[in-house]
Amino acid sequence: MKNDFSRRKFLGMGIAATGAAIASKTIFLDPEPLFAAPHQVAASDRLRFGIIGIGMQGSGLLSNAIELPGIECVAACDLYDGRHTLAREITGKAELPVTRRYQELLANKDIDCLIAAVPDHWHKQVVVDACAAGKDIYCEKPMSHTAAEGVDMAEAQKKYNRIVQIGSQRVSSLICKKAKEMVASGMLGDLMMVEGWLGRNDPTGAWEYPPPFDLSPQNLDWDTWQGTVPKRAFNPEIFARWRCWKEYGTGVAGDLLVHLVSGMMFVLGWNEAPKRAMAMGGILRWKDGRNMPDVHASLYQYGEIPVYMRLSLGTEMPEVYRFQGSKGILEMTEFGLSFTPQAGIDTSPSYYDGSFPHAMRDAYEKKWKAEHTPRLGQEPTPETISFKMPDYDDVKPHLWNFFESVRSRKPVVEDALFGHHAALACHMANESYFRQSAVTWDEKTRTIKS
Ligand SMILES: NC(=O)c1ccc[n+]([C@@H]2O[C@H](COP(=O)([O-])OP(=O)(O)OC[C@H]3O[C@@H](n4cnc5c(N)ncnc54)[C@H](O)[C@@H]3O)[C@@H](O)[C@H]2O)c1
Repeated sequence: MKNDFSRRKFLGMGIAATGAAIASKTIFLDPEPLFAAPHQVAASDRLRFGIIGIGMQGSGLLSNAIELPGIECVAACDLYDGRHTLAREITGKAELPVTRRYQELLANKDIDCLIAAVPDHWHKQVVVDACAAGKDIYCEKPMSHTAAEGVDMAEAQKKYNRIVQIGSQRVSSLICKKAKEMVASGMLGDLMMVEGWLGRNDPTGAWEYPPPFDLSPQNLDWDTWQGTVPKRAFNPEIFARWRCWKEYGTGVAGDLLVHLVSGMMFVLGWNEAPKRAMAMGGILRWKDGRNMPDVHASLYQYGEIPVYMRLSLGTEMPEVYRFQGSKGILEMTEFGLSFTPQAGIDTSPSYYDGSFPHAMRDAYEKKWKAEHTPRLGQEPTPETISFKMPDYDDVKPHLWNFFESVRSRKPVVEDALFGHHAALACHMANESYFRQSAVTWDEKTRTIKS
């Protein structure tokens, strides 16, 4: 009994020092400094871009890009004519030159750089062709459709000395920037593990998009759209819902996991492929003929650190990361960040003393108190620090970073090598799922091995 009482007393002290009584402080982040675009740009600094692919993402990129100072859209390309109309509507230029052939944009000397938001199976060709034609390019994530394609793309950027920005805009968010600073300051201590998750639970979130009503082989170049994939008869569902099939998309891994991986790499200052990956999942919710899993859990090893990412289209869950360190937990969401410190010390005598005879237990606790009580009393009160920011879109700062690099020739925040490494995590998750075994990345042969 005496022992229980003294333990409770100590536990009480412990809680005061480390747990329930943790104070908290919230700081609001101002997105303005991150995106410090000047409002006036000299005529000589104006950039003219062409856009390839004006679908769901391309239309958003176009709207954002033309709002940036000194940035002008001068041509648009898409295989579906309906999106030529859309590009003209967005830019407000009834005469905007439009084409189905992106090669025309590559040959156009009036175009300084390109934005590409085509489906994943077209990324490599467009990026390699753009680099070879001397054009800088912003290409959507995941950078590649396969590991081999990523190797070619990273080489093309290097060989032709081009600016290539990959579109995981998360890395341009103020929250990621702040998290990176916090990790670099050492406040996390030694990194132990990273976990992250994201889930959706509705047909649109699961990519069951409505195809445009008027889509037909007359207004869409369906043959070219399919690229090098074995040809199928015209199919509007594949056009709109290509993410569901591995022939065109990269599944939840390439669609969603890549954002988590890119953000994690940026925050931790990593630029490498995972050493190993093991993934499990299945088509558990959306049995609509797709061949990519809708639930996908991947466990990675980066250096010595385990990274566990859970992606689901069957249950909605907000995007969350937890960077677990020896000095506490840094939790990052889309618009918030909080660090809760952990002292990493005993705050009461070890409960192992319950196995001691009474006299020994009393002696141990007395000694423990004598050694620890003054120090415990002097511990500063740990404080959870939270950062919040307004709901803002990180696409604009990410595009701005690209345009700034096109002007300055300074590196972008997410080049082809970074994009390749982030995409490799996705390809490894997919390979592991389909092969039903752990996979490794072999840097020598630059292949994924079982
Ligand atoms: N960064 C993000 O948050 C984000 C969000 C959504 C999509 N994306 C990425 O953007 C890319 C496009 O996705 P989406 O949802 O906009 O697809 P989408 O199907 O809505 O649009 C793609 C467009 O590209 C056109 N296209 C295809 N091949 C072409 C070619 N060879 N030449 C010219 N046009 C071609 C299609 O006709 C279509 O209009 C994907 O890689 C996707 O992963 C990124």
